[in-house]
Amino acid sequence: MTNDDFAEIAGVVRRRSGIVLTGDKAYLLETRLGPVLAKFGLASLGALGQRLKQRPDDVLERAVVEALTTHESSFFRDGKPFEHLARILPKLVSARAPGAALRIWSAACSTGQEPFSIAMLIADTLGPRPECRVEILATDISAEILTRARQGVFTQFEVQRGLPIRSLVKHFKQEGAKWRVSPELAAMVRFEERNLLNDLSAIGKFDAIFCRNVLIYFDAPTKTRVLDALSRRLMPEGVLYLGGAETVLGLTDRLVPVSGERGAYGISTQRAAA
Ligand SMILES: C[S@@+](CC[C@H](N)C(=O)[O-])C[C@H]1O[C@@H](n2cnc3c(N)ncnc32)[C@H](O)[C@@H]1O
Repeated sequence: MTNDDFAEIAGVVRRRSGIVLTGDKAYLLETRLGPVLAKFGLASLGALGQRLKQRPDDVLERAVVEALTTHESSFFRDGKPFEHLARILPKLVSARAPGAALRIWSAACSTGQEPFSIAMLIADTLGPRPECRVEILATDISAEILTRARQGVFTQFEVQRGLPIRSLVKHFKQEGAKWRVSPELAAMVRFEERNLLNDLSAIGKFDAIFCRNVLIYFDAPTKTRVLDALSRRLMPEGVLYLGGAETVLGLTDRLVPVSGERGAYGISTQRAAA
């Protein structure tokens, strides 16, 4: 693969997903694109680079992006955002207009551990019959990963990462060597394919947004663009949760840290009306 071929492949990934692949990530292409080469009858990464250069091919480009997204996730990842959400849930519920649903968005949900953690937290905090409707929207750019997430089935290794044993027993059923989320939990989460770079206004506003461990893959202008778009999807009192290595500082003035809560952000009062 020449530098030009690498630049071609990385350019497609960046344009379609925002993910930046620097030269030191060439090994990722080597390790992950083998199945794509086989599927499309391409002999090498060089041949892939040439094909992408010759003509636009939506199906091929999509497959390249799918192969190069990273789906690492775990239940109740980092703990703190979920503890904070549990603490503010009663306030968010009582702030609802009569008849309005409580809406929470997992904006790069990967294999589903994040939205199902939110569903467990809500079921455990508000009880089986909450006083308002609850909607959890879980979205990701990867159609393949969403197919997996929708199944709500996790391996023993996955449930051992972050899921307390009492939550496993309460909310999952064992099926052979795997664990399936309960129908009640599954019914709380709706999965949709969405690209964070696209117009998101159709999905409405949310009381809480989890957009965790995806901005790290973007460059600064893309982070700013996505953060501004997310701020427009937040209710005035809503909270945005980012990953441990992510921040809004230096990227946007539409969002400000929630005092004393690492990784939690609210809409800046100066920008709330904008
Ligand atoms: C590392 S996982 C994070 C999963 C989960 N939020 C967590 O923190 O455990 C990153 C996810 O972001 C998704 N992703 C990457 N670029 C995206 C984009 N432009 N729009 C939506 N999702 C994207 C990937 O497909 C992947 O599933």
